[in-house]
Amino acid sequence: MGVLFLLLLFLALSSSPSSSSNLPAALDEGSSLSVEKEIDFLVSPNRAFSAGFYPVGPNAYCFAIWFNDENHTVVWMANRDKPVNGKRSKLSLHKTGNLVLTDAGQISVWASDTEPTSSSNSHTRLQLEDTGNLVLRGGGVVHWQSFDWPTDTLLPHQLITRSTELVASRSRTNHSSGFYKFHFDYENTLRLVFDGIETSSVYWYETWLVSWEAGRSAYNNSRIAFFDSFGYFNSSDELQFWSSDWGTRRPRRLTVDPDGNIRMYSLDHGNKTWQVTWQAISKPCKIHGACGANSLCTYAPESGRRCSCAPGYTMKNRRDWSHGCVPNFKSCEKGDQYDFIELRQSEFYGYDIGFFRNYTLQQCKEECLKYCSCKGIQYKVGEAYCYPKNMLLNGYQGGFEYPMFIRVPKIVQVSDRKHPLEEFSLDCPKEVLTTDLDRTYKKKRENGTLRFMLWFAIGLGLLEILCIIYVSLKTRQPSSRSKQGYIQAAAGFSKFTYAELKKATRNFNEEIGRGGGGVVYKGILPDNRAAAIKRLNEANQGEAEFLAEVSIIGRLNHMNLLETWGYCAEGKHRLLVYEYMEHGSLAANLYSNALDWEKRLGIALGTAKGLAYLHEECLEWVLHCDVKPHNILLDSNYQPKVADFGLSKLLNRGGIGNSSFSRIRGTRGYMAPEWVFNLPITSKVDVYSYGIVVLELITGRNPMGVHTSDDNDEMENGRLVTWVREKIHGGAESGKASWIEEIVDPTMGSEYDVGRMEVLVKVALQCAEEDKDARPSMSQVVDMLLRPQEED
Ligand SMILES: *[C@@H]1O[C@H](CO)[C@@H](O)[C@H](O)[C@H]1NC(C)=O
Ligand SMILES: *[C@@H]1O[C@H](CO)[C@@H](O)[C@H](O)[C@H]1NC(C)=O
Ligand SMILES: *[C@@H]1O[C@H](CO)[C@@H](O)[C@H](O)[C@H]1NC(C)=O
Ligand SMILES: *[C@@H]1O[C@H](CO)[C@@H](O)[C@H](O)[C@H]1NC(C)=O
Ligand SMILES: *[C@@H]1O[C@H](CO)[C@@H](O)[C@H](O)[C@H]1NC(C)=O
Ligand SMILES: *[C@@H]1O[C@H](CO)[C@@H](O)[C@H](O)[C@H]1NC(C)=O
Repeated sequence: MGVLFLLLLFLALSSSPSSSSNLPAALDEGSSLSVEKEIDFLVSPNRAFSAGFYPVGPNAYCFAIWFNDENHTVVWMANRDKPVNGKRSKLSLHKTGNLVLTDAGQISVWASDTEPTSSSNSHTRLQLEDTGNLVLRGGGVVHWQSFDWPTDTLLPHQLITRSTELVASRSRTNHSSGFYKFHFDYENTLRLVFDGIETSSVYWYETWLVSWEAGRSAYNNSRIAFFDSFGYFNSSDELQFWSSDWGTRRPRRLTVDPDGNIRMYSLDHGNKTWQVTWQAISKPCKIHGACGANSLCTYAPESGRRCSCAPGYTMKNRRDWSHGCVPNFKSCEKGDQYDFIELRQSEFYGYDIGFFRNYTLQQCKEECLKYCSCKGIQYKVGEAYCYPKNMLLNGYQGGFEYPMFIRVPKIVQVSDRKHPLEEFSLDCPKEVLTTDLDRTYKKKRENGTLRFMLWFAIGLGLLEILCIIYVSLKTRQPSSRSKQGYIQAAAGFSKFTYAELKKATRNFNEEIGRGGGGVVYKGILPDNRAAAIKRLNEANQGEAEFLAEVSIIGRLNHMNLLETWGYCAEGKHRLLVYEYMEHGSLAANLYSNALDWEKRLGIALGTAKGLAYLHEECLEWVLHCDVKPHNILLDSNYQPKVADFGLSKLLNRGGIGNSSFSRIRGTRGYMAPEWVFNLPITSKVDVYSYGIVVLELITGRNPMGVHTSDDNDEMENGRLVTWVREKIHGGAESGKASWIEEIVDPTMGSEYDVGRMEVLVKVALQCAEEDKDARPSMSQVVDMLLRPQEED
């Protein structure tokens, strides 16, 4: 009773200053706020914030917290994706201590899920505090608070943690969850991610920087960040910044805006408008997903961001650019002639089919025409760098030095081939992109020196980043690898739901393979592409580690690597979606007489190229660790693609020597001696396995099934090698050609080039040397296999 009296007294006291409009500051258990009563909302004691039903559409409301500014700027929503009816909906604080939002008096659309047992005899109360935090307290304990469940906005002293993320609204007028996210990634650093309908990719900080290059630290895993009311932001990944009006206490907010940028705003006392005082990205078109596939983003301060379709393409959904543009033609009809239409100063980021140095524009175009999937080429004029692309994503025009050439069939009408872009400029639908963007660039006049210093610092920082990029690009370039298809990192790939993949595989009906930690099924994706869907064994691997692995796999992109189209991580399900290979694995083909000499040579060379890319040419070092014929798949032209990086382990370039694997990986027969003798594991383990695979390719003999004179278990891996060496030895005495005849697979016939066969055997044996230092690197293998071809 005494408690109740005190509480009532407290209520009376706390509401007395606002008695003029009798607005409640708190909600007590057993009572509720109704959507129908306009004055039914909570106001913070300092009157800065309100919490109540916020209209989001005709007859649609969300329970929200907003600033009491002119526009009622929303900072939090309980049910952003499930608005409630304008009649009989209410937010109730039950006697049990649970806070529940019901739609039209019936369905519960949201609840705090708090049933504090300890407070059975103490009151629970919902209070909106001066900070903008809506807090449910009982017996002096916080049971729930809105600060723990941010939507798109962070307020001063609200923490962003490992379990929270900011998700932008769909648009300025639609508050439901959009495509842009701000959160700590698996490297403990704060990132902005575009998580769209079909693709997802990180776009801030720049994907090609490692954390320390971006001034971040990946080593503090406390994952906590916040900012204070003076405008200073500090994060455990060492990201810190000061707002341009830093130092004065103001109402502030940090919001991931619907355009994908994250900005700090402060409320100007004078004219009561929100001023941008910091933003992460200064070039709005660099934000991924701005315009969808096959379209270009352009930006002008007066008109904001605009999207336009690439020549030969038209907008898919007239009301929403995020769906991008679709071609006006069927890709790759037989006998088509193509034009390449130049777009000046344009870049499409990622999705390179290859990278070729010292190519003329004409050679580059010809390279592109070799691939059905090639949509165009990025061409760097001075360096003569050529990048054919199989997807046109994240395109923007302006601010990029070089042109892009879009591949369009000659029969397609592109009205004015000289100035195609003007022809295709389309205004963005108002709702989606053009609104309010220019507001970013309103500059404040006050605090001139501080602003100057801030911009100076930013300028210096940018210069530094540019230098770092320049230096790292320079040093990264390998010396003479122009022949091998080197591919830039791809920016991202699709995310699938479990239900989609279940449907695609007709409930995991058609099994096409097994191993490497899971079963592979054939499936047909919603867009009718055939796919190989690998369902990983229920791993105890967390989602973060899985995504880490997946994001590495997704960035590997080479014509001799199996392409990964997407993934699914839902609950305990972990699936990977790959392209489907018609001819199945090398293992299946090897013993069915399907492979003649040319095909086998092509497979040896292609596999070497794929592995060389894995080892040396992509941004990270990746070891395969399980190279064997089952993991080499053949496409319709019997070109090999290396599959299954499931056992691969990422290594830093610097840390190769001291790498240690905790347990043996790989498959008996193909495993390098290092595994058995517990020696350091380097990329040479893949070289060894490759050597065995090539010997198997030549001889048609399974490395486990060969018996040699010095058979013993420890040497079982080397049986095939020993057998071939013995034959060569024996051959040397009796006459040259005969040893080749003895070892080659009889099903291959005699249609092979003896000289090249010798080279192939020599290379394979060198690869399968016991001493890892005697083995060549994969790129040396490629060079050796290519050399005789050139001399011919
Ligand atoms: C807001 O966006 C969501 C998701 O795209 C959509 O389902 C919903 O209909 C939109 N609401 C309004 C009012 O446009
Ligand atoms: C990690 O970050 C937290 C929060 O910023 C800080 O308190 C802690 O000292 C940091 N730890 C280390 C090892 O730097
Ligand atoms: C920012 O946080 C780090 C710990 O993560 C702390 O060492 C440092 O003092 C903080 N900086 C300021 C200015 O508070
Ligand atoms: C309120 O919205 C209007 C129109 O979007 C805008 O011009 C105005 O600056 C906004 N006011 C504040 C305080 O943000
Ligand atoms: C580029 O190609 C031209 C002719 O094809 C050749 O003369 C030149 O040496 C090449 N440059 C490099 C750096 O390979
Ligand atoms: C509000 O005032 C600030 C300076 O205090 C100024 O920079 C800004 O342009 C003003 N905004 C409007 C809409 O007048």
